[in-house]
Amino acid sequence: MINVAFFDTKDYDKLSFLKYGERHDMQFRFIETKLNEDTAELARGADAVCVFVNDTVNAAVIDKLYEYGVKLIALRSAGYNNVDLSAAYGKIHVVHVPAYSPYAVAEHAMALLLTSVRRIHKAYNRTREFNFSLNGLTGFDLHGKTAGVIGTGKIGRIFIDICRGFGMNVVAYDRFPAKDSGIHYVSLDELFEQSDIISLHCPLTDETHHMIDAAAIDRMKKGVVIINTSRGALIDAEALLEGIKARKVGAACLDVYEEEADIFFEDHSGHILNDDLLSRLISMPNVIVTSHQAFLTEEALNNIAETTVNNISSYFTNDGICDNELCYRCDSIEHCKKDRKERCF
Ligand code: NAI
Repeated sequence: MINVAFFDTKDYDKLSFLKYGERHDMQFRFIETKLNEDTAELARGADAVCVFVNDTVNAAVIDKLYEYGVKLIALRSAGYNNVDLSAAYGKIHVVHVPAYSPYAVAEHAMALLLTSVRRIHKAYNRTREFNFSLNGLTGFDLHGKTAGVIGTGKIGRIFIDICRGFGMNVVAYDRFPAKDSGIHYVSLDELFEQSDIISLHCPLTDETHHMIDAAAIDRMKKGVVIINTSRGALIDAEALLEGIKARKVGAACLDVYEEEADIFFEDHSGHILNDDLLSRLISMPNVIVTSHQAFLTEEALNNIAETTVNNISSYFTNDGICDNELCYRCDSIEHCKKDRKERCF
């Protein structure tokens, strides 16, 4: 029996993980709290921990897990910026879910964009109160506009296809442009200067941290719409707020926020929100915030649970070999996978 301490559990996690877990000899201990230095103790006796995007898996937490005999950290997410892979190397193996539904995230990005530019969020509230006035609801056509897509991996490319379906022009920037993809790549500065809409689909790294800052916003078109369904810290939220107040940024659609860890995924209604920046952003008529919801489709939840359970199972039953292991030694996951015919360490 493989014992898994499952941190930051939500009701929707239980349904899908119990379904796939029972096919393997796997027992989940569902824990509602997030993993951090204070709660790592709850992993005692577990063979593996299963964590999500806002669990803290830094060097101190990894050392504690290692001391308790935990052998595997199974991320039920694609992004892994919350895990210190260098600290884990040589101690605990780390696996993730490289793709579960890129469509879910790309479609959510477009849902946010359409909601914003056609003022659906405002119309919905108005008609519920029998206010059928159209004043202030004027939007703009997406057709013919230029979308700038940063990061042309799985999600970015689907978003590009969706934009093309709307008759938009697409320019893109990627640190590693895809050859023969038919994507029109430009420099980051050119993307900022040409785009009516900018959508972020690259990972959070030291290099991409605050890639949308005051200087970047300065280069953008007046009225630009910025969409972030990737990671909060790609955007300097203070600079975004200033850009909105200066009427430079026309709208922002945010599924992620730099300081979301203690706020998103929980019901804070009826409480006073201690984050003034987020409160101010939410108060803006041209800002839409969803609570890291882009992944949340039935298809994605099933894929996340199935892949995570398979990752854990193959680690414990297949000599520790798992295709979805993240390895600190390698430059990229792809490189690592190609070369690996054995355990990472
Ligand atoms: P991917 O790995 O397929 O694509 C990422 C792309 O970003 C790659 O083409 C890569 O070359 C590019 N990239 C890397 N460094 C870059 C840089 N410095 N500048 C520009 N581009 C760079 O990843 P995928 O599946 O498309 O996911 C993208 C991001 O979406 C993830 O990193 C994650 O943070 C976020 N995400 C958000 C979810 C949500 O619910 N809001 C759910 C799933 C992912």
